[in-house]
Amino acid sequence: MSYLVLARKWRPKSFETLVGQEHVVRALTHALTEGRLHHAYLFTGTRGVGKTTLARILAKALNCERGVSPAPCGVCGPCSEIDAGRFIDYVEMDAASNRSVEDMAALLEKAAYAPNSGRYKVYMIDEVHQLSGHAFNAMLKTLEEPPEHVKFILATTDPQKIPVTVLSRCLQFNLKQMAPGHIVEHLSRVLEAEGVPFEPAALRHLAKAAAGSMRDALSLLDQAIAHGAGRVSEEDVRAMLGTVGEDHLFAILDGLANQDIHAMLAVAQAMEARSLSFDAALQELATLFHRIALLQFAPQAILDEAERARLLPYAERFEAEFLQLCYQIVIHGREELSLAPEEAAGFSMTLLRLFAFQPGGEKRAGGAQAGTGVRGAGMTPAAEPRKVGAGGTASFSPAEPSPPLAAASSPAATNLDKPEDWHALVGRLPSGLARQLAQHCELASLAEGRLKLRLAPVHRHLQSHQEKLRAELGKLLGRTVVLEVELAEPEGETPKSRVEAERRERQERAIAAIESDPLVNELCDLFGATIDESTIKPI
Ligand SMILES: Nc1ncnc2c1ncn2[C@@H]1O[C@H](COP(=O)(O)OP(=O)(O)O)[C@@H](O)[C@H]1O
Ligand SMILES: [Mg+2]
Ligand SMILES: [Zn+2]
Repeated sequence: MSYLVLARKWRPKSFETLVGQEHVVRALTHALTEGRLHHAYLFTGTRGVGKTTLARILAKALNCERGVSPAPCGVCGPCSEIDAGRFIDYVEMDAASNRSVEDMAALLEKAAYAPNSGRYKVYMIDEVHQLSGHAFNAMLKTLEEPPEHVKFILATTDPQKIPVTVLSRCLQFNLKQMAPGHIVEHLSRVLEAEGVPFEPAALRHLAKAAAGSMRDALSLLDQAIAHGAGRVSEEDVRAMLGTVGEDHLFAILDGLANQDIHAMLAVAQAMEARSLSFDAALQELATLFHRIALLQFAPQAILDEAERARLLPYAERFEAEFLQLCYQIVIHGREELSLAPEEAAGFSMTLLRLFAFQPGGEKRAGGAQAGTGVRGAGMTPAAEPRKVGAGGTASFSPAEPSPPLAAASSPAATNLDKPEDWHALVGRLPSGLARQLAQHCELASLAEGRLKLRLAPVHRHLQSHQEKLRAELGKLLGRTVVLEVELAEPEGETPKSRVEAERRERQERAIAAIESDPLVNELCDLFGATIDESTIKPI
């Protein structure tokens, strides 16, 4: 018994069963109905999106015994012979292996004769961009004055390489890549018809790996069926594709949250040992950072309860700006992966970069100031590596980070006796969304453990972290606090606006210093130089 691979067995035989490519189907259907046929078509698109399939359906539509129509019968002599690949008037030629002018001349010579049994001789020239220049020229003559009974279908994955003279004589259709959703649907239909049990999540992995090609999706499905001995389960497919399990990804996030570089690098090692794809891991990490950021700003955008619960600890732990940076770092890391001496090196370099760019990360990496400006004491490389949560659960404790430099040295900051203490107190909060909320709040009033804060309405999305802030403040002050957040424009300074103002002031001082610098002024006078203020940075 010969086993027909799924991609061949499931080649669509009619326009209706083709997945996607509606724009092409519509145009061809219309032309066939109206009998307004072009003599040369060009199908472009990546591999496995339906170019050959469309050519065969078009050949049937032109040669079906029941007449030219967009719905060939599929059972007559020409139809079934075309489907079986043995119709004498339908010729598929692969230009990659028949690229010479002689090959083309032989084909064109045959084309001159009337069809043997069909209405039209249909020539499908695949990968037509591979033809030699002379072969193109030979073909051009026939394209200029084609015999009535000849139709050309040219196909290519690389239309840029086709001479304009040829392009201008063809009706061109660009076939689209298959959307993952379409692939999943198609694969489930195939599996149902084949009576193969499957888990839908497995198909999503396959669709992703197929990267827009239906043929690749079906070949991968063949492999998955063989791999899973007749069933298609998510676990098998993941193992087959080398897709990175979530545990690894969350272990990286935990390492980052716990400021434990050893744990992060251990993941890279474990992945290498199991030959998992670093590229896929970075892609998945980018997705995770995106989802976490989304959760911070638009929690309702994440519909899945379980996902929300899973990501929440990270949304609370990482600052919004840092997440943006993480996202960029992994995206760039992915681009650089191919340039790295080894993929594993490229990957751990990206992990190191994530680590180094954490708020406070550089100081730690420098080592010199360890123990002062360092959040999460004991994070010097010599320290015990912290354990990553088993099964990828977030195991870091949110209270871990200790105060930044300034606040740490001022014991008064743990009191909240006068409004001024608010700024220092906020500086002592561990980073996270509660702190972000506090930074945007002005202390409106303060009495016996009752804090009234004012938050500008533009930051109202932070309001939901009020309870967390209450708990954090309670911890810092060593007593229970009652917190009330009022939505109103602050009348004075918030910690955030003060930091901003200080930054601006430093910037202005820097600009003033540059502008009054005698050397700079001399340069301006002598060479007509101008100062680009945006490039001035305070030191
Ligand atoms: N649009 C599509 N809808 C359904 N199956 C498709 C489609 N495109 C490709 N396939 C599947 O992939 C196989 C190869 O498609 P083919 O038309 O030869 O691709 P190419 O664009 O490389 O010529 C087909 O036999 C079919 O199983
Ligand atoms: Mg093809
Ligand atoms: Zn027919």
